[in-house]
Amino acid sequence: MNIILLGPPGAGKGTQAKRLEERYGVVQLSTGDMLRAAVAAGTPLGREAKAVMDRGDLVPDAVIIAMIDERIGRDDCAQGFILDGFPRTVAQAEALDAMLARRGLELDAVIELAVDESELTQRIAGRFTCARCGAGYHDRFKPTAVDGVCDRCGGTEFVRRADDRAETVHTRLAAYRSQTAPILPYYRSHGLLHTVDGMAPMDEVAAAIDRELAVATAAGD
Ligand code: AP5
Repeated sequence: MNIILLGPPGAGKGTQAKRLEERYGVVQLSTGDMLRAAVAAGTPLGREAKAVMDRGDLVPDAVIIAMIDERIGRDDCAQGFILDGFPRTVAQAEALDAMLARRGLELDAVIELAVDESELTQRIAGRFTCARCGAGYHDRFKPTAVDGVCDRCGGTEFVRRADDRAETVHTRLAAYRSQTAPILPYYRSHGLLHTVDGMAPMDEVAAAIDRELAVATAAGD
């Protein structure tokens, strides 16, 4: 199953992608995570991307398209993948079509997480992850069971993203509205777009995505 998760910063794409990985045995391809790994490793790509990401702007299409094209070709994508954070522009959506066609692959569904923008800053500002295993938490919506201790690995160091400051979030939301939202009609016209309420509690969002995927795969049979 090949899926795109679409939605503005903080909509819950990463949260739901991780759940889909577990439920469907497909791999999460997060362009944001790939870029942050390149920044942490200090690669030429990471050095180029860092300033752009810290401003909240989008990294150039050519860089991102080459990164995803290489990633989709790896063996762990054979059972399917969830694109989280890609495509983000019409040019990226068109490039994705071309790279899938070249490999004889198709998209099964594009899931849009519809959210209330006014809530997103709060969601993003409260987000933190375990420095050791990467498990994601939220000060209010998903705290650790024991204060200061990761539920998954017992780690006690946590990190917050450099681009999660309120002024950067504002720029990221503007980039979503102007550059990413225009791809929604593209996927609607291809009959692939399924919209779920991303403001519902996480388990309900996951259940709604399951229902939409059942519809999408039945339609594709
Ligand atoms: P990226 O890492 O993709 O960030 P983003 O799209 O801004 O999305 P986020 O990771 O902030 O949010 P999310 O939707 O995954 O929400 P999450 O599940 O964490 O991109 C970062 C940067 O990289 C970009 O700004 C750009 O510079 C660059 N980049 C990446 N891809 C690119 C591309 N294709 N082209 C160009 N540039 C690119 O949830 C957020 C919080 O809310 C969490 O704490 C979570 O616990 C909580 N939460 C989640 N769901 C719920 C719920 N239902 N109820 C309550 N709380 C919830």
